[in-house]
Amino acid sequence: MRMNLLLLGSGGREHAFAWKLLKSKTPKKLWIAPGNAGTALCGENINVSPNDFEGIKKIVILNKIDLVIVGPEDPLVKGISDYFKNDKELQKVKLIGPGKQGAMLEGSKDFAKEFMNRHDIPTAKHKTFYSDECQKAIEYLSSIEPPYVLKVDGLAAGKGVIISGDIKQAEKELEDILKNNKFGSAGKKVVIEQFLNGIELSVFVVTDGKSYKILPEAKDYKRIGEGDTGPNTGGMGAVSPVPFADNTFMQKVEDRIIKPTINGLHAENISYKGFIFIGLMNVNGDPYVIEYNVRMGDPETEVVLPRINSDLLELLVAVADEKLDSIKLDIDNRVATTVMLVSQGYPGNYEKGKTISGLENISGSLVFHAGTIIDSEKKYLSNGGRVIAVTSLDHNMKQSLHISMENAAKIKFDGKYYRKDIGKDLFKYL
Ligand code: AMP
Ligand code: GLY
Repeated sequence: MRMNLLLLGSGGREHAFAWKLLKSKTPKKLWIAPGNAGTALCGENINVSPNDFEGIKKIVILNKIDLVIVGPEDPLVKGISDYFKNDKELQKVKLIGPGKQGAMLEGSKDFAKEFMNRHDIPTAKHKTFYSDECQKAIEYLSSIEPPYVLKVDGLAAGKGVIISGDIKQAEKELEDILKNNKFGSAGKKVVIEQFLNGIELSVFVVTDGKSYKILPEAKDYKRIGEGDTGPNTGGMGAVSPVPFADNTFMQKVEDRIIKPTINGLHAENISYKGFIFIGLMNVNGDPYVIEYNVRMGDPETEVVLPRINSDLLELLVAVADEKLDSIKLDIDNRVATTVMLVSQGYPGNYEKGKTISGLENISGSLVFHAGTIIDSEKKYLSNGGRVIAVTSLDHNMKQSLHISMENAAKIKFDGKYYRKDIGKDLFKYL
């Protein structure tokens, strides 16, 4: 029987999901809300926001959707899973993504820190301050060493972490967040934490609430500039596997972080069916959690999914049906690299609507659309800061990067920018 699938989101992550779902041997039809020009090649886009739960409900009922896959964090933190569970007409629809409580792992930094402390999961030491405790927070700063790491408690579209070596600037940030409501209600609390010195890694786990599978890990390149300089972005590229994440290190991650996280969710009666993305720091060979996300990463998904040979739809159905232990993951041991093409000005202001050309010249890479639309003349136009991710696979990391870079150069749009140093920091581990 055909499965009807609805995928929520509109980034490169969602195009990668759509592409991979289509490869499943299960007969299926895919809808994407709202999607982009890339997902339109894989199924039918519907212009409804993932945060419009009533709109989503209409799509689900009209198209007899069997399985909903939630890409971004926002609808999860807003409680889309609970909305489905509490609605008579939606109760039976399978949904991949945690409930509101589980989504607090990403939705509240303070909740995540307390959760890790309760379950002895290694993370930076921290203290939380409320809006009426600005003075106390400022006094606390002078009792610790720089650099100062300040984290807005709630979702802040990737802008909620401030790291500063300058105490005056850190004090001003605290005032802006706690007194001047710079981040609105997301900034009602601030977490101040110890600075961790090391190299970052993104680890992905999928769980049905009982068992779990570890997906390929990845390294993300967050800063806009080469050599990891300039402001943070959503991610400018990614590599998987990551050479320093060897068996010894990954065993520590599993024993010290993944198992206690899954057991902790269970012990606290938090039902969780979906992805857990653990952003961690490798500090001299020991892993520490920087943050939890309750979804897959972007652009990490664009290197993680191409390395999974197993049937993704079967895997997701097993998650929904709590049968994940019956699945065996088959991973491609080639190196996947992705390079993100972005609009000039990103992550600040940028223009949209630039004509994209050269896509037909790509060979040997996968093209995942992020911020793109297709106009009435069937021309592709840019429609966001991150525009297109170019992913390649090869047994050799340098060759994989070479193919991605060559194809990245072939795609043209006004103001196109991409980092040419993705992966280069990893050569020393090869
Ligand atoms: P997040 O928004 O939580 O991903 O944080 C943004 C970035 O800030 C992370 O990717 C890290 O590079 C950095 N960061 C966050 N917390 C710490 C920490 N405790 N020590 C050092 N760097 C951190
Ligand atoms: N690439 C980091 C994220 O998805 O949050």
